[in-house]
Amino acid sequence: MDVKSLFRRKISSEASGEGPKLSRVMGLFQLTLLGIGAMVGTGIFVTAGTAAAGGANHVGAGPALMVSFFITAVACGFAALCYAEFAAMIPVAGSAYTYAYASFGEIVAWIIGWDLVLEYAVGNVAVAIGWAGYFNGLLRGMGIHMPDWLTMNPMNATPEVLAAAPHLAGIPIVFNLPAIAVVLGVTVLLCIGIRESVRANTLFVIINLSMILLFIVVGIFYVEPQNWTPFAPNGWNGIMTGAALIFFAFIGFDAISTASEETKDPHRNVPRAILISLAVCAVLYSTVAAILTGLVPVSQLGLPEAVEQPVAYAMRAIGQPWVAGVLSAGAIVAMTSVLLVWQFGQTRILYVMSRDGLLPERMSKVDPSRHTPIAPTVIAGVVVAVAAGFLDISVAVELTNIGTLFAFVLVSAGVLILRVIEPDRPRPFRVKFVPLVPLLAIGCCLYLMASLPLVTWERFGIWLVVGLVLYFVFSRGHSVRGQQSA
Ligand code: ALA
Repeated sequence: MDVKSLFRRKISSEASGEGPKLSRVMGLFQLTLLGIGAMVGTGIFVTAGTAAAGGANHVGAGPALMVSFFITAVACGFAALCYAEFAAMIPVAGSAYTYAYASFGEIVAWIIGWDLVLEYAVGNVAVAIGWAGYFNGLLRGMGIHMPDWLTMNPMNATPEVLAAAPHLAGIPIVFNLPAIAVVLGVTVLLCIGIRESVRANTLFVIINLSMILLFIVVGIFYVEPQNWTPFAPNGWNGIMTGAALIFFAFIGFDAISTASEETKDPHRNVPRAILISLAVCAVLYSTVAAILTGLVPVSQLGLPEAVEQPVAYAMRAIGQPWVAGVLSAGAIVAMTSVLLVWQFGQTRILYVMSRDGLLPERMSKVDPSRHTPIAPTVIAGVVVAVAAGFLDISVAVELTNIGTLFAFVLVSAGVLILRVIEPDRPRPFRVKFVPLVPLLAIGCCLYLMASLPLVTWERFGIWLVVGLVLYFVFSRGHSVRGQQSA
């Protein structure tokens, strides 16, 4: 085998030829909201509480959670600058996959495309399961009780639930219906069209931002400054543990780069939207952290009744149950927008990989009337829905973190490499202070990766090996770039 051919490079351009294409409907505003929609979710509404209070396996940041948010935002900011340079230079839908193809070559591109499945599809399995949990809680609050066999996966069902479930050919039927339904609903919306999906996302994000502002505006009057002391009860260790945990809250800004081929003036709008959405979330998150830890003593955020809904809990604690109820409903909307944008991102990456010949050709067909790639949208939707409905993927969040961090490392390293091998290529957006900024991005991401458990690394390794097998069995032989050089 010619080892050099594994590293054949390709600077992709958007679809050419006569066939139907994706349509450019998004401007800077919609694109920025896409990023915010992909970011605001369980990270801020749920994880913030345990990150401050600590949990069974980790210490808490205490009120210094606001510093943790700031640190993570800066670390993501370094990576975001690198994404921005690539997004402006190669405005093609494949995001990190496309950038890796341009800088490292095909086999690394394939690995990163396969790795991004962890970020988007596997991540969405976790989000859908979390969404269903919140949704069931809301229904119960309204006095509506769905049968247990329709709200959990068979792996978690107790003998009582299995016995009460209907049976088909002697097999008990148990599945998480709300998790399946929300993924399929989002999939239908994405198939209908990008215009409709963007409109829905805009509405979701307006609701999300209103919820966060409501929390800030109501909470600010109840802050007790004595709750902020001691500020960092577990010192630097607590702050950095908190920073690693709430990294999840920032995942998503990179999904903006998967929308490059559906954006007007992508050279300008994509990098700007990446940086603006990250900055908006960083400011809002840090403010929420400051207020949350000022409302109640941090130890209370670790109580069983607070862990799943710390933001709503804090509002109840200050005598605002009405606001607490609204915030719980708001969390469901926030998770819906994450689901929507991540499914979108996954389908666009599959679409570009198929266009490059690394996945079956059918997945790069764009529907002539809807201007959406129906096949990858349906395939990703069904796979994520089935996994969310039937599996217990409690490890999904950690896999999502490691997968995303790996993509950030490669994109940042890619900026360095392309500066050397293609110094004259036009760069409408240039990262300043190269190589410092990419190196800082790589260092921060490796540090966060190192803080993940060994078992996550093992699963990640297995995932990549499976990906490599697929590359050699199918993709290498079908690569368009490979056929060009043959
Ligand atoms: N950033 C997304 C969230 O926090 C993943 O839900």
